[in-house]
Amino acid sequence: MTDPMTSADGAAAEPRHPQQSPEKAAVGTSRRDLLRGALLGGVGGLVVGAAGGSVAGRTLISEDVTDTIDLSAKYPFYGQRYQGGVATEPQRHCVFATFRFAPSAGPKDLQLLLARWSAAIAVLQDGRTVGAVEPTSALQPPRDTGEAYELGPASLTVTLGLGPSVFGDRFGLARFKPALFSDLPALNGDFLDPKYTGGDLSLQACADDPQVSYHAFRNLSRIGRGVVIPYWTVLGFGRASAGPGQQTPRMLLGFKDGTRNIKTDDELNRFVWIDRSDQPWLDGGTYQVVRKIRMLLETWDADRVGDQQQIFGRDKLEGAPLTGTKEFDTPDFAARDAEGEFVIKPLAHIALVAPENNGGIMIKRRSYSYTDGLAADGSLDAGLLFVSYQNDPQLFIRMQNRLGANDLLNEYIRHIGSGIFVVPPAPEEGHYIGEALFA
Ligand code: HEM
Repeated sequence: MTDPMTSADGAAAEPRHPQQSPEKAAVGTSRRDLLRGALLGGVGGLVVGAAGGSVAGRTLISEDVTDTIDLSAKYPFYGQRYQGGVATEPQRHCVFATFRFAPSAGPKDLQLLLARWSAAIAVLQDGRTVGAVEPTSALQPPRDTGEAYELGPASLTVTLGLGPSVFGDRFGLARFKPALFSDLPALNGDFLDPKYTGGDLSLQACADDPQVSYHAFRNLSRIGRGVVIPYWTVLGFGRASAGPGQQTPRMLLGFKDGTRNIKTDDELNRFVWIDRSDQPWLDGGTYQVVRKIRMLLETWDADRVGDQQQIFGRDKLEGAPLTGTKEFDTPDFAARDAEGEFVIKPLAHIALVAPENNGGIMIKRRSYSYTDGLAADGSLDAGLLFVSYQNDPQLFIRMQNRLGANDLLNEYIRHIGSGIFVVPPAPEEGHYIGEALFA
């Protein structure tokens, strides 16, 4: 296979930032002055509406909104047990893409594609281009499209997943299919649009610079031309917990998302990483579930804050459970108010999926906001690119069936896209993702 220090097609890889030694690059600016200016200018819209208890009258100006990020930071690709982009601290931007096989693609094409993609991902995560940006001959296009030249690695991780169809008859790989792996069944809450459903392969390219993640997706799809065809993509954004002192990000409904999530190695080992699978090639892998969830933002924005808080079971600004005062307080699902009613409603989002009420199970959520602009009726077309990782697809299926049937949030969301993929372990240097399937 291709030398990892060269491009996916054998050309010498170029440094993407040849004259820069890695340095801390400060991006983003404080919005404090802007907000202050707006307030002094008499814009009152920054004050949260009075309905809804604890947030009444509080403003959204934070005392410390300084934002720095190191765009020279990078993640190694080889020699890791697990692929990046799963346990990795979420970067700020993400391109999630699925691909379908070209009608003519056969087993050798798939093998070569996985080898070439692996070599290219290693180079991209290192902050280099996948080949010369300048054409080597006037008769040929450049090997790299060039838009990430000099941008730095920006903590890029590319996570490659294989769909259930990989293990069908087409490639002769049926004997490698893990027993737990098949297409997702119909689930409660499905409003799936075939345009955003399924796929033979997936690529999740996350980085702290949107152009770096898009460049990775674009050049990988270019390398795959003739073997795979891009099927559906989602561009995700969101201020993630990048850098010291960053807070839990908020999604477009305005609440913090990620307060209670898998964080420790013990939780990762119990619920995320596959170990002692019926398919030994998969140990160190995980199952990836993606859902494109449209939010009905106009309806949500007309709802009272107090009601919004009941829907999640959490306070909007602090993110505390309604039974506590601080974000990381443990929710008390048995607590009742003076009238004897549950403080956190049993059908609130967190009550339905918290491990306390769900046989102790957890999943690793790694979601981003997305927008597709405006819908045909002029409404805001936006929502959540929900991505979860778990070592058994049933963990997601159980949770979504509970949510889809009961969640107070259902009035405001629609699951319009879906896919499931298995993420093999990361390769050693000189090897490629999924190589064991072709041994
Ligand atoms: C647009 C859709 C969704 C939104 C806006 C949303 C938002 C939230 C928010 C605000 C929280 C509370 C903060 C936190 O602990 O992270 C939360 C928690 C959680 N959500 Fe969602 N979520 C969505 C969909 C889903 C789906 C589809 C699943 C799984 C099938 C899910 C599983 C969870 C879990 C497991 C928790 C942690 C509960 C706990 O342990 O307390 N969410 N979500």
